[in-house]
Amino acid sequence: MREWYFKLAFFKRRIYRHAFNLHMNAKKILESADVDAVVIYNGSNEDLNFYYFTRLLYGGIFEGSLAVISEEGVKVITSILEEQSAKKGSNEVLIYRTGEEREKLLREAVGSANRIGLNYASLSMSDFNRLKKIMGEREYVDVSEKIMEMRMIKDEEELKNMREAAKIASEVADIMPDFMKEGIREYELAARLGYEMFRRGAEDFAFTTIMAFGENAAEPHYLSGARKLKRGDFVLMDFGARYHHYNSDITRTFVFGRASEEQKEMYYTVLEAQRIGIEMLRAGVNGRDVDMKVKEYINSTKYKDRMIHSTGHGLGLAVHDHIGLTSLKDLILKENMVVTVEPGVYIPGFGGVRIEDDVRILKDGVEVLTSAKKNELIEV
Ligand code: GLY
Ligand code: MN
Ligand code: MN
Repeated sequence: MREWYFKLAFFKRRIYRHAFNLHMNAKKILESADVDAVVIYNGSNEDLNFYYFTRLLYGGIFEGSLAVISEEGVKVITSILEEQSAKKGSNEVLIYRTGEEREKLLREAVGSANRIGLNYASLSMSDFNRLKKIMGEREYVDVSEKIMEMRMIKDEEELKNMREAAKIASEVADIMPDFMKEGIREYELAARLGYEMFRRGAEDFAFTTIMAFGENAAEPHYLSGARKLKRGDFVLMDFGARYHHYNSDITRTFVFGRASEEQKEMYYTVLEAQRIGIEMLRAGVNGRDVDMKVKEYINSTKYKDRMIHSTGHGLGLAVHDHIGLTSLKDLILKENMVVTVEPGVYIPGFGGVRIEDDVRILKDGVEVLTSAKKNELIEV
């Protein structure tokens, strides 16, 4: 009896907290963008903000669905096909069977709201025009930047999913040497990597796996191909798991067989660059300065100008979620942002090394979410 009572109280508190969270997000966007309602359309282009505001993270595709955020909370307008998935959340769920019903529900949900926020960043032109036609004469406002500002700061539920996504990818990075054998092709090893992620609970790839052997590792965004593994090759793998819609993004570089002096020098140069970058990270630091410092170090070695990309990017619902550690733009880091730290050096025709981890910014430092081994170059 007593036990039941406590269980019930716990459950109620959980529901309350969840609803409270949603309400806070809804309230925040209405206030910061100064709009009466926000309409998110998961239309021709997937809009990840649909998941952000509804927290429908546990099943459902919601193609063509809408989220209407107003003082009343979050309303989800979705088809009968997605009804069960939509009811897993704590939003009001409105079901349509036809296109006309969807339009009617949208007009009702926005009611008399005058200033309506839309996410211009992901709406196609045709969806934008269609929405305006359905809702009629009102004031439409671009709220994409305001939403992104909110999304940059992760809450507990988001961090929980990101930690799990990072854990899956880290475990897989650590066991991948077990599957390397002479003659295996890049796409075979990439397939094994995917299998190992899925059997650990990944719901999807965060992005197409980069599995690069030997000289292919010099191409930062190589994918994978038929190249066979030979002794002395670099093996660079850049991949991530998606878990309840949140992503991880990790890179590890190995050598198959004995590493040459050049390979070792490249590896430890990149490792030191990453250490310098991570050490600088904390709330209040400018991402631009981190990128500059990391590159300053690389440029002081024989690998001058061989780091041909930024040090890192924001991570979350999207893999390239927002601007991160780049000398091209200022970003003052805040607590609970999650960014990657991924220096690399690339020598065309020879190979490349990149080491990438995901970190959460704290007041005085970082929580490193990914944990795969990296401190010694692994010779397989
Ligand atoms: N996987 C692409 C990147 O690391 O940004
Ligand atoms: Mn990556
Ligand atoms: Mn990355």
